[in-house]
Order: sequence, then C-alpha cells, then structure tokens
Amino acid sequence: DKRLKVAVLGCGSVGSQVVRLLTEQSDDLAARIGAPVDLVGVAVRRLDAPREVDLPEGLLTTDAHALVSRGDLDLVIEVIGGIEPARPLILAALANGASVVTANKALVAEDGPTLFEAAEKAGRDLFYEAAVAGAIPILRPLRESLAGDRVTRVLGIVNGTTNFILDKMDTSGAGFAEALEEAQELGYAEADPTADVEGFDAAAKAAILASLAFHTRVNAADVYREGISDVTAADVASAREMKSVVKLLAICELKNGAVSARVHPAMIPATHPLASVREAYNAVFVESEAAGQLMFYGPGAGGAPTASAVLGDLVTAARNRLSSTVGSGESAYADREVLSMGET
Ligand code: HSE
Repeated sequence: DKRLKVAVLGCGSVGSQVVRLLTEQSDDLAARIGAPVDLVGVAVRRLDAPREVDLPEGLLTTDAHALVSRGDLDLVIEVIGGIEPARPLILAALANGASVVTANKALVAEDGPTLFEAAEKAGRDLFYEAAVAGAIPILRPLRESLAGDRVTRVLGIVNGTTNFILDKMDTSGAGFAEALEEAQELGYAEADPTADVEGFDAAAKAAILASLAFHTRVNAADVYREGISDVTAADVASAREMKSVVKLLAICELKNGAVSARVHPAMIPATHPLASVREAYNAVFVESEAAGQLMFYGPGAGGAPTASAVLGDLVTAARNRLSSTVGSGESAYADREVLSMGET
C-alpha cells in the first residue's frame, strides 16, 4: 500500500510545530488522508541549534537542496521564509515531482506567478494557506467558498505584532518601543521587526488577499504601504477619546473593475467588528455582493497556529497525490488594472 513521503524545510518556531504535529498526530493524519505520511527529512541551517522539538535520529540535514532533489518525495513543506533559498528549493521540489505547502507570504507576494507556473508545469499542488493570518482559514474561502460570489472589499488586520503593539498602547498607555519589546518576547515579531512595524509583512499579505479576492495578480510592490512607527501614544489616546481605535489595516477594494490595495494605520469606530480584535489576533472582514459581510477571526501568528494551517494544506495536497488530482494555489485569474495610491 502507498505511503507518502514528506520533507520539511526549516525547523524554527513554525517548522518545529509542524514536525511535532506530523509525529503526534500521524495516526489521525493517515486516517484522514487515506495513507500514512512518513517524515523522511528535515532541512536546517545548523545541526546543533537548540530546537523546540525532539527529532528522530538521522532526519536532520543541512543540505536542503539534496533533500528536495532526491526524487521520491510526495510532499515538501517549506517553512524557512524569505525569498532565498526558499524560491529555488520550492522550484526544485516541484520539478522533482513533489507537491509543496508553504507559509511563505513574502515569496508568494513577490513572485507567486513563477511558483504557480512551475506547479502547473509539474502537475503538482502549491498551497499557502498559512501565509496569510496564520491559523485563520481565509485563502481557501476566498479562492473556493466565495468563488460564486463577487467580493468587493477585504479589510484585514493581518499582522499580529502591530496589532499587539497598538492594543498595548491603547489599553496600558505603553510607548511604542516598550510594546514592541513585549511582542518580540512573545515570539510574534519577525526576526527583523521592521517587516512588521513598517507594514511590509501586511503588504505582502494584502497582495495575496487582493489576488485571491479579485481573481487577479497583485504583488507586494503594487501595495501602498505605511507602517505604525510614527503612531504615538497621543494619537492612540485621542482616537480613544473619539470612541475609536487605531489599527493597521490592509484594505483591498475593487473599484470599477480595478484593484486598489493599501496598508496604513486607520482609525476605526469602537463599534466596528474589527475594533474588537485584540492582542496579536488577526481578522479579515470580507464584503461581497451576495453574502454580505463576513468576518474571519483567530490567531494570526505563532508556531502552533501557523502549523495548523500548514497541516490542513498538507492533508489536501496528500489526498490529491493519492487521487492524482491537482488543486491550484491560484484561482484562474484575469488581468485587472491595479490603482496606485494617487488614484484611490
Ligand atoms: N510577524 C507576523 C505577525 C507573523 O506578527 O503577524 C505572522 O505572519
């Protein structure tokens, strides 16, 4: 009987939780997929780095390229992050016949089409639910559940670190630096918090949301971006006096067939559902013609929540491997004009 072989690239906070769930839940996963999944390798940068998970002997390697090129892998999970070496590794994995699950928002937002085309050429899946809003199922709903509707606007709190900082400033009057330090201690922030604080992380996620919501291609460079480093305790306090809160929003809209995508701090009334999103939680508020208003809410960062989304994609990709079908990470797309900020 068929057994599926999976390799994991990266064993940081997300990778170690992926490995833990793969190991601890192997019986449940096998039942849901219809075949056992064998973890055959974990690529890491350093063999002797401290890790949050105990790995079976002999699985670790520093040669990620050799791992994805062995030719017998069914599935590869990429949780290294960043553009290089993730991009060539994903391309090599697909070329060698594996389906790929990634959490890599930066890469998908910068160069998604290269990856989608490689997956299509290889006849393999490429899924990335974990790239936006961690554990919250939002990409599959936009791509599939709402495919019969017409989405007009997506408003997202898609960066946990900045939401934590703004919430902390609001509730305790803390300064920006103090709140950032706490977010870093809790493990929400990226290794370089500039990506969070200056809105690059949210802009990458906005590009992915806009692409799927409007069935087109928007990349990170198309997204107007402003971070929260200039938001002061006084700004937050005066918003509070006006019964409002300051949130870093990713706003994706369809206007006369053209797409506008932007990330900036915004004041929202305390009565809006997004105002209730506290700490490092994320939420995505979707408006569509037939469904009306929907809100998706949950943990948007952290090892285990992100690993939950990765494993969900893994189950789908594994089922597809067994039934020889291919899903697509991209919805069939149409070219749309992308408006620059001056036009919105
Ligand atoms: N640094 C990101 C955040 C992690 O704070 O939301 C999840 O992408």
